[in-house]
Amino acid sequence: MKILKIHGDTGSSVIRVGETLERLDKYIPPENVVIITDINVKNLYGHKFPPHPVITVETGEKIKTLHTVEYICEELVALGADRSTFIVGIGGGIVCDITGFVASIYLRGVRFGFVSSTLLSQVDASVGGKNGVNFKGYKNMIGVFSQPEFVICDLNLLKTLPKKEILCGLAEIVKHAVIGDADLFTYLEEQYKKALDMDMGVVEKLVYESIVIKSGIVNRDELEKGERRKLNFGHTFGHAIEKTTGVPHGEAVSAGMVIASALSVKRGFLPAKDEERIKNLLQNLRLPTHLKADRKMVLDALKKDKKRQGDRIYFVWLNGIGNAFVDRIPMGELEAVIDKHMEPV
Ligand code: GLY
Repeated sequence: MKILKIHGDTGSSVIRVGETLERLDKYIPPENVVIITDINVKNLYGHKFPPHPVITVETGEKIKTLHTVEYICEELVALGADRSTFIVGIGGGIVCDITGFVASIYLRGVRFGFVSSTLLSQVDASVGGKNGVNFKGYKNMIGVFSQPEFVICDLNLLKTLPKKEILCGLAEIVKHAVIGDADLFTYLEEQYKKALDMDMGVVEKLVYESIVIKSGIVNRDELEKGERRKLNFGHTFGHAIEKTTGVPHGEAVSAGMVIASALSVKRGFLPAKDEERIKNLLQNLRLPTHLKADRKMVLDALKKDKKRQGDRIYFVWLNGIGNAFVDRIPMGELEAVIDKHMEPV
């Protein structure tokens, strides 16, 4: 097991890569614990949960709403949860985001931790203290920063993940390498086949190195006033594509990273050969570099991005592989690249 730590103003978090769900009881109180999970995780792994009450939600982005938050709060009240209750989210990014949000607002906040069950949530969603839900078509519009006491990244849980879910996680790993670690990028170029085959030695290194990059950034800028914005590389277009086409998050981010790289080349920041390397790696990982989308809908979604400030939006640029920076971009410049990088529907 490898351990990483986040120390923020909103709490401290210990991330345990290679710890297992079976040993969860070592990190939680013996009683007054409530588990939140989704129906898939409960069916697959419910028999490994410690013996505490379980609140089960459905799956998918559609349940990441205030309605689900209300349902969980009602269940917590029915269970008699009080200020000393410890809440554990066992699941992927959606379960962890909702659990963290509920735990942060229920009775003005109770202790919480996560067992992260997908590659995407292990390398990104469950780490860093962003918790929240979508609202009226705006992604992650309502939420809080609040660090889980622990995140258990149980690599064994990844063995039952569908291929599409694995690809989503790999896209975020590529993102971390591109913004912060050229050596990790080269490692991915060399080991992509083993990563796709879920070779556990390779996967463990990718999860750990990804969290090294993310936790480093979060330790320096927990509340996203500056450097943390780099973690949104590929997400400006990614979120807009995800919302308008319904493709999984990682696929949309993959296409978004290609557009962001192309814009960096166009502005003269990134050598064209680095854009090619990024595109090739994504293609080797069976991730899309081009998607079909409705131009007007994508533009509308870009305008609704919470990073927009007036006519400009914070955008993540590349100087090279492993080297990103943030600066605002006029909305018009984003509009101009849509046609080149997206097929109309
Ligand atoms: N997923 C981006 C962040 O945690 O800041």
